[in-house]
Amino acid sequence: MVQRYFNMNNIVKIISDDIFKVCAELGIKVNKGEIKLEHPADTQFGDYATSLPMGLAKSEHKSPNEIAGSIKARLDKIIDKEIIEKVEIAGAGFINFYLKKEFLIKEAEVLNYELEFKNKLSEVGHGKTLVIDYSAPNIAKPFGIGHLRSTNIGQSLYNLYKILGWNTIGDNHIGDWGTQFGKLIVAIKRLGSAKQNLDDLTIEDLEKLYVKFHKEAETNPELVDEGRDWFSKLENGDKEAKENWQKCIDISFKEYDQVYELLDVKIDEIHGESFYANMLPEIIDGITKKGITKISDGALIIEFDDMPPAMLRKSNGTTTYLTRDMATIKYRKEIWNPDMVIYEVGADQQLHFRQVFKIAELMGWMPKEGLVHVAHGLIRWPTGKFSTRKGDTIHLSDVIDRAMEKAEEIANKSQVSKDLSTEEKKEMIKNVAIGAIKFNDLSSDPKRDIVFDWDQVMSLEGDSGPYLQYTYARCCSVLDKTKIKEQKNINNSAENLNPEELALLKEFYKFEEKIIEAATRFSPSVVAEYLINVARKYNEFYGKHRILDQPEENFRIFLTKTTSSILEIGLKLLGIKPIEKM
Ligand code: ARG
Repeated sequence: MVQRYFNMNNIVKIISDDIFKVCAELGIKVNKGEIKLEHPADTQFGDYATSLPMGLAKSEHKSPNEIAGSIKARLDKIIDKEIIEKVEIAGAGFINFYLKKEFLIKEAEVLNYELEFKNKLSEVGHGKTLVIDYSAPNIAKPFGIGHLRSTNIGQSLYNLYKILGWNTIGDNHIGDWGTQFGKLIVAIKRLGSAKQNLDDLTIEDLEKLYVKFHKEAETNPELVDEGRDWFSKLENGDKEAKENWQKCIDISFKEYDQVYELLDVKIDEIHGESFYANMLPEIIDGITKKGITKISDGALIIEFDDMPPAMLRKSNGTTTYLTRDMATIKYRKEIWNPDMVIYEVGADQQLHFRQVFKIAELMGWMPKEGLVHVAHGLIRWPTGKFSTRKGDTIHLSDVIDRAMEKAEEIANKSQVSKDLSTEEKKEMIKNVAIGAIKFNDLSSDPKRDIVFDWDQVMSLEGDSGPYLQYTYARCCSVLDKTKIKEQKNINNSAENLNPEELALLKEFYKFEEKIIEAATRFSPSVVAEYLINVARKYNEFYGKHRILDQPEENFRIFLTKTTSSILEIGLKLLGIKPIEKM
């Protein structure tokens, strides 16, 4: 699917093209998409392997082994010997490919030249445009854990596509419109304590007022009518309504801006739902003219064969979240003409987006494949509930506070942090805490629910943000100490690699592939997992072999440099700060 947007030019492509060519010569019918290469778990079976012959056995009326044999025989003649050491057939019909050590070193060299690597990457998605809709908190409600997930995953997807050369536009679809704002205005006017100045309200006050409104409305239902009237006034541009609404936005952004600063996230554009308000009549008109709507109980709806109906306009005349999403697609299409729009929004909105995408398709605004809902799962806490200071709901600030406490423990134990100034130490604590939270969000596939287990999140040995930061700092410290500034004759080392060095080289070359895979699967976890593997291999190497003042220092510094370069680029892709001293 999205693969079609990518211009691949890497080993996978080279090998698959050769297989394709050979198949054609042998008269074997095969689609390019059928040729899949994998990394065998045990490198004894090669660096890449394909089980293609097994898939072909039936249509070719031959045994997989026989097919594998004839493909291999021809591959031997054409395959690039600078890259591939040997091709072997194995098992029930696998073809295994072994990369040349000199080639592994060459690939690592590219990674040492960040610019060269980035240039190569940016070819992949050159000329394509992506709009990514992420974060999108709701005004007058604190920034929740779900929005944190959306922000972290969304930002990482943004970074991944950007490094692959896409023209990327982040758009924050803030929830700032809808009947709830009418209710909020009533709550502020009626229920806010008289001595409270509007300017002194916090987002938590707004949230409480909203809750209070609903409690009061149980005994006093006319409050709801009043709320509806105020939203209607707001929609019609009433001055007082607008002022109150704007205040809610300002108050909310006071908190959001802090969160974004802490997370070091800057979203290119903010178009709240309100931005689309005046386009809605035209949108509704257009959809109605297409003849796909229906009036049901006074509401304007669209029916589908395979899902519940969508509502464009309620019976009281007000528009819906869905109507605004329709306007959003049309607007984005007109302004940016994207090849793809990604929505990083919780899985609970799956139905909503299926409806939205279907309508966009029916209207001819965007093809279905161009609209992607990356639906993230929930965050769960291992032992029942997360206890918070403020009550039942989990506030982001509680999570961040807790992470900061844990990061401080790490800092207090660390040797280097003793030499840091108070400012530097504070910065380190923040970066470790935020890195830990982000990694936890990014290290499993977005679709999956994640369990927030503090011990793992902050572990210096496990799969965690701090572990990666720590390994990066280790590399920096080695590079700091060496006197070697430039590598010479690295290729000569190909002959006498020890197992740990070879294992590292066998991770390095996968970086580009992993970045592409993470982007096409909409899962930064592919990169997260990869970085953990690189870090593990480096630490195994580091634990077994001395680097400085050895005859092999030159080459081992080269490996250290490559590791640090991968960790640096990779951490940045995840939105995590690499830390030089830790
Ligand atoms: N504000 C919404 C929420 O918190 C998310 C908006 C997602 N983006 C969109 N285009 N609908 O539920």
